[in-house]
Amino acid sequence: MEILLAKSAGFCFGVKRAVDMAFKTDSTKKTYTLGHIIHNETVTHQLHEKGIESIEHMDHVPMDQLIIRAHGVPEEVYQEAYEKSVHVIDATCPYVTKIHKLVSRHEKEGFNIILIGDANHPEIIGINGWTKKGCIILKNKSELDFSQLSQDARYFIVSQTTYKKAVVDEIVEALEQAGYNIKFMNTICSATSERQNEAREMASQVEAMVVIGSRHSSNTQKLYEICGSLCPKTYCIDDASMLKEEDFEGIEKVGVTAGASTPADVIDEVLTKLQQI
Ligand code: F3S
Repeated sequence: MEILLAKSAGFCFGVKRAVDMAFKTDSTKKTYTLGHIIHNETVTHQLHEKGIESIEHMDHVPMDQLIIRAHGVPEEVYQEAYEKSVHVIDATCPYVTKIHKLVSRHEKEGFNIILIGDANHPEIIGINGWTKKGCIILKNKSELDFSQLSQDARYFIVSQTTYKKAVVDEIVEALEQAGYNIKFMNTICSATSERQNEAREMASQVEAMVVIGSRHSSNTQKLYEICGSLCPKTYCIDDASMLKEEDFEGIEKVGVTAGASTPADVIDEVLTKLQQI
């Protein structure tokens, strides 16, 4: 069986930076991360061994340091840390920080902010928290409710960095066609689009596709959707232990890609197991 590995598989720049920052942290001080640093159990476990735990809220947890993960957090978290004299190690991906600054500035300039993404995703919660009035959050075009909008207002549109470009384009086009006063900035991270384009190309050339990453990782799920639409035998796995030999019977060419929070050693293990199959 020929095995193709996507060049863009695995940690993106922002995730690698956040993970490196977490591992370099002086953990003799009481240190927490707000949420898991990435959606990967191995990394979470290694950080736990180093004495760094993850919490959901800062409430009532005595700490010296707080690591903010690549997804970023609302502005109020920095304020809370400052008030509690907690040192912040800010591992927010610089591309996400740029969106925080953009929405904050455009709101001050009088724009209403439209944020395209999943309202429950931490990155979207974080971005929303950099506006005073809150954003209009849209998951897809069907959530676009024109009765909420005004032809007299100005709208600034950005999206989750890991969102599908086609969904964003559809919403922007619908607003343009309806004549709204909009300013759109494409905030989809090129790491995501490169990974998605490569996955798309690969999935159309192979008989089976393996997507490695967590079910909780939105960019992994997007990869799975893209590959699944082109290659019916697409399998989404956390790690090598989830590969089933029978799924690859008669397959001559398999493609492998991985979400942004999949460590290199997990990818290597999957490749080794596929080679054995
Ligand atoms: Fe940053 Fe792009 Fe990764 S926004 S966290 S480099 S997917």
